[in-house]
Amino acid sequence: MNNEVSVTLYEDGPLLLRGDFVLQGQDGTPIDPGRATVALCRCGKSGLKPFCDGTHKLVGFSAPGQ
Ligand code: FES
Repeated sequence: MNNEVSVTLYEDGPLLLRGDFVLQGQDGTPIDPGRATVALCRCGKSGLKPFCDGTHKLVGFSAPGQ
């Protein structure tokens, strides 16, 4: 079984988290991702934080070189 976790930066978009990860709030409360692969917001504008809801496209989020 592969327990590897990967984080992929999408150009001008979210972080894609894949694998056997645990997602939790700053107080340690588990957050159910609901699936094995999730997109985490890095533009700060999602209405579903910590998840990406696609708003990065509407606000023109840009992360050159990342
Ligand atoms: S990165 Fe997609 S809404 Fe923030």
